[in-house]
Amino acid sequence: MEKACKNVYITTPIYYVNDVAHIGHAYTTIIADMLARYSRLVGFNTFLLTGTDEHGQKIAQSAEARGKTPKEYADEISGKFKTLWDDFDITYDKFIRTTDDEHKAGVQKAFETMYAKGDIYKGDYEGYYCVSCETFFTEKQLIEGEFCPDCGKPTHIVKEESYFFKLSKYEDKLIKWYEENEDCILPRAKKNEIVNFVKGGLRDLSISRTSFDWGVKLPENMNEPKHVMYVWLDALMNYITALGYGTDEKHMDMWPAKVHLVGKDILRFHSIYWPAFLMSLELPLPQHVAAHGWWTRDGEKMSKSKGNVVDPKQVADAYGLDAFRYFLLREVPFGQDGDFSQKALMDRINSDLGNDLGNLLNRIMGMSGKYFDYKIDSKDVAKFHQKELDEINEILNNVEEYIFNMQLNRYLEDIWKVLTIANKAIGDYEPWAKMKEGKTDEAMALVALITNIVAKVALLLDSVMPQKVSQIADCLGIKINTQTYTQLIGNKELISNTTITKVDQLFPRIEEILLEQSAPSDISKNSVEIEAKEKKEAKVCSEIIEDDNLITIDKFFETTIKIGTIIEAEEVPKSKKLLKLQVDVGEGKNRQILAGIKEYYSAQELVGTQACVVANLKPAKLMGMISEGMLLAAKDENGLNLIRPEKSKTAGTKIS
Ligand code: MSP
Repeated sequence: MEKACKNVYITTPIYYVNDVAHIGHAYTTIIADMLARYSRLVGFNTFLLTGTDEHGQKIAQSAEARGKTPKEYADEISGKFKTLWDDFDITYDKFIRTTDDEHKAGVQKAFETMYAKGDIYKGDYEGYYCVSCETFFTEKQLIEGEFCPDCGKPTHIVKEESYFFKLSKYEDKLIKWYEENEDCILPRAKKNEIVNFVKGGLRDLSISRTSFDWGVKLPENMNEPKHVMYVWLDALMNYITALGYGTDEKHMDMWPAKVHLVGKDILRFHSIYWPAFLMSLELPLPQHVAAHGWWTRDGEKMSKSKGNVVDPKQVADAYGLDAFRYFLLREVPFGQDGDFSQKALMDRINSDLGNDLGNLLNRIMGMSGKYFDYKIDSKDVAKFHQKELDEINEILNNVEEYIFNMQLNRYLEDIWKVLTIANKAIGDYEPWAKMKEGKTDEAMALVALITNIVAKVALLLDSVMPQKVSQIADCLGIKINTQTYTQLIGNKELISNTTITKVDQLFPRIEEILLEQSAPSDISKNSVEIEAKEKKEAKVCSEIIEDDNLITIDKFFETTIKIGTIIEAEEVPKSKKLLKLQVDVGEGKNRQILAGIKEYYSAQELVGTQACVVANLKPAKLMGMISEGMLLAAKDENGLNLIRPEKSKTAGTKIS
């Protein structure tokens, strides 16, 4: 009864729409789905939230690089995430988009509330910003005075009017929260890092930007049309706006969250900024912020720039969704990094799933059919197998607590211990021998023991492998629901009489890896191209070649850079940044180039001047117009300058 009333609210991070989903995203979402399915089965009132994070400079830049408006681009990628989660049968109760009107209204309401409380003030921000991480840094925090300490990409200087949140005011309260709530951050090793960070002192947080406009506007009554919210303030609020905060408050009774699942890279935002915002809003704090590690590939961190991204859909299609889910949850202890390899996945399928679980079901089908016409009766199980029942009950007593402590691999390990007891019992008691000896009741007790063990295991695995478990349930003639869970797991009962139905083999053996390994998947190829393009477009910022990223001269010459003479220039209506140029690059016909330099050059002053043009870029569409090249420029805190030849050169001269 108590269980039926309990609310469990589980969230995934909302995913940036600057790229399609990869295995890292699938990992977070699958863990969250597992927790949600488990909670529902146990009988908790459960709400699973996922969605997409669509504002900010990074998205605006990615959209521009593809010649799309940010909203067009966000619609496209958000749709892909949603389709993937639907294909993966993720049981989300809401898919939130930060471009939803209700979300924007909720964020504005939160801003107003924090402002009214005196926690927000206006000032000037000067510091470094990493667009890729959407994070502010001080000079001291940068690597070699320039690079983002989190992702290693170049940062740029931001100097603008900004609203600030009084994060420093919440330092002591945060420390108290960490101290009083042992498991508020999981795993505990990660918690120590956060506590030390906060003890080192917190600076107030810049929470609005004026240098671009793709974000939630400040509340209208603030009369600050230039400002948009800092994307992390906007994004974190999704956890409450999804429940109706600031609008209809429909599901606010689900708050606080039981667990926010995040990757370790975004733990700081969730365990420092987010609780501080909540304290300011006088809302209760989440029970757990749980941070998982990263998936690597062949030992290297998976990232689109390395082109080693694994497409979760490809893997699930090849190996089966449930096997993939099992692998992700079992292979790596929560919080640690893990290497994705098809070999490891294949081994898990053949060994754990095929041998330990699948074969057990085969044996139930085989023995029950051969000896008992598929009829199972549990009446003598306790009489002949109390020892095994005690052993499994002891294990099952403890597994539940592993779930919300995020010891998911231990949860699975213990379930496998139960399967081992079942497999061993068959060898120990040899039901075929009992049948020969005429001890039919003992043979029946053994087959019934195994059937009961598999039924219990099926209930515990439903959250992990729902499709396969439904097949097992069909075979054993049981229903996977809260009532059965309470009977077989909660009350440790046995199923009484049941009839076995033959089903297909659960996990056919896989002899060799199923996906070609060397070729990056389409998603990573696509990502690599896009990333390269983004990088070129973003060349206005200082681009530095990292040591491990040195290229050969041939690679350099893959880019054709030519001198171009600007023949015509005009402003692009409705664009703050773009000028439309007709540039002579010595081809007998001018090229149309759209350049984001309007803030730094007037159209008139450009005509007749020269610039360096990247001449072998694929044409891109910007604001519906074709751009057939890119001008090189350098930008620092003093503004942007085109890169030009020192003295006039013939149009079309190659730069080498
Ligand atoms: N938009 C922010 C989150 C805002 S939540 C209020 C964001 N998005 S993200 O798309 O970049 O990342 C989403 C999640 O995917 C993060 O938890 C991140 O850790 C996870 N992963 C991205 N790459 C990963 C791996 N290679 N491995 C495991 N998970 C990683 O951050």
